[in-house]
Amino acid sequence: MAQLMPLLIFVLTLEQLTSGAVSTTFTIVNKCEYTVWPGILSNAGVSPLPTTGFALQKGESKVFTAPTSWGGRFWGRTHCSQDSAGKFSCVTGDCGSGKLECVGSGATPPATLAEFTLDGAGGLDFFDVSLVDGYNIPMLVEPQGGTGQNCTSTGCVVDLNGACPSELKVTSVEGSEGVACKSACEAFRQPQYCCSGAYATPDTCKPSSYSQIFKKACPRAYSYAYDDKTSTFTCASADYTITFCPSPSTSQKASQGQQNTPSTSPPLINNTMVYEGAALDDFSGSPSTCPHAFGSHALAGVVSITVAIWRLWQLF
Ligand SMILES: *[C@@H]1O[C@H](CO)[C@@H](O)[C@H](O)[C@H]1NC(C)=O
Ligand SMILES: *[C@@H]1O[C@H](CO)[C@@H](O)[C@H](O)[C@H]1NC(C)=O
Repeated sequence: MAQLMPLLIFVLTLEQLTSGAVSTTFTIVNKCEYTVWPGILSNAGVSPLPTTGFALQKGESKVFTAPTSWGGRFWGRTHCSQDSAGKFSCVTGDCGSGKLECVGSGATPPATLAEFTLDGAGGLDFFDVSLVDGYNIPMLVEPQGGTGQNCTSTGCVVDLNGACPSELKVTSVEGSEGVACKSACEAFRQPQYCCSGAYATPDTCKPSSYSQIFKKACPRAYSYAYDDKTSTFTCASADYTITFCPSPSTSQKASQGQQNTPSTSPPLINNTMVYEGAALDDFSGSPSTCPHAFGSHALAGVVSITVAIWRLWQLF
C-alpha cells in the first residue's frame, strides 16, 4: 500500500487540476503613449488577486492568475502623481486609497471598466467592457484560447474623450484637453439616465441620446445599465488579455483569419463613423483565439485525457 501512496497523491493532484479548479491568466498590456495605473477591485466574497493597483509604463505588460470563480473589475487610472506628503492620486479612475494599491476601493467615475465573472452559470466566464460609469481610456478585452458561441473580443477602442459632448466632458486641470467623458447618469443624476426609481427595469429604462453616443462609437460596450444583450460575452476555458489603447492596425492583423464571429455580434468599432485623427476604416473586431495560446487550460485538457486513459486501463 505504502508504495501506492505517491501514485495516489499524483492522481489526486491531477483530479484537482481537471475538476475545474484551473486558474485563469490575465495579461494587462499598456499600448498607450503614456503611463497607465491599472486598478483592480474584486467582488465581495471572492479571493482577491495578488495586486489591486500598480503602474504600467508605456509598452509594459503584467501577467497574473486569478483563482477559480474570481469576479471583479479592471480599469485604468491616468494622470497620476504623488504629492509632497506622499499621497497618491489620479485625475481619472482614482480609487481614493491615497496609494498605488486600491485595497478594496473602486474607480471614481468616469472610468472605462472591464468586468469579469469567471466560472459562472454553465461554467462560463462572463465579461464585458462598460461605459455605464463613463469613459476615460480605450480598452480591449481579448479572450485567448477559449470556446463558445460569443467568445469574442469586446471593448471600446476609440478615443471618446475628444468626441465627448461638452456637457459630459471632463477636462484636465490645466486646460481644455478632454481626459474623460461622464455618463449621463453621473452628469445629470436623473433616474431615467441612471435606470433607478421608476426606471429601474429593462422595460422602463431606455437608451438616451447620450448613451447612444457611446453605443454608436463602441457597439460592443455597455452604454447604459440594461444594455446586456449586445454587451455581455461568454467564454469557456479562456485566458484574457486586457489592452489599454490597443492600436487598431495591430489588432486587425491579430484577428485576421478568424471566421467564427457570430453574425449577431455587433462590430467592435463602428466603422461607418469617422473619428478624428485615426484611420479606423477596416477595423472591425473579431475573436482572437490565437492558435499558439496554449495556456493552463490546454494543459488541463491534456492532463484530463491522461487521467481518462489511466482510468480505462485500470478497468482491464
Ligand atoms: C454606427 O454609426 C452610424 C452613424 O452614426 C449609426 O447610424 C449606426 O447605427 C451605428 N452602428 C452601430 C452598430 O451602432
Ligand atoms: C452572449 O451570450 C449570453 C449568454 O447566452 C447572452 O446573454 C448575450 O446576449 C450574448 N451576447 C452577445 C453580444 O451576443
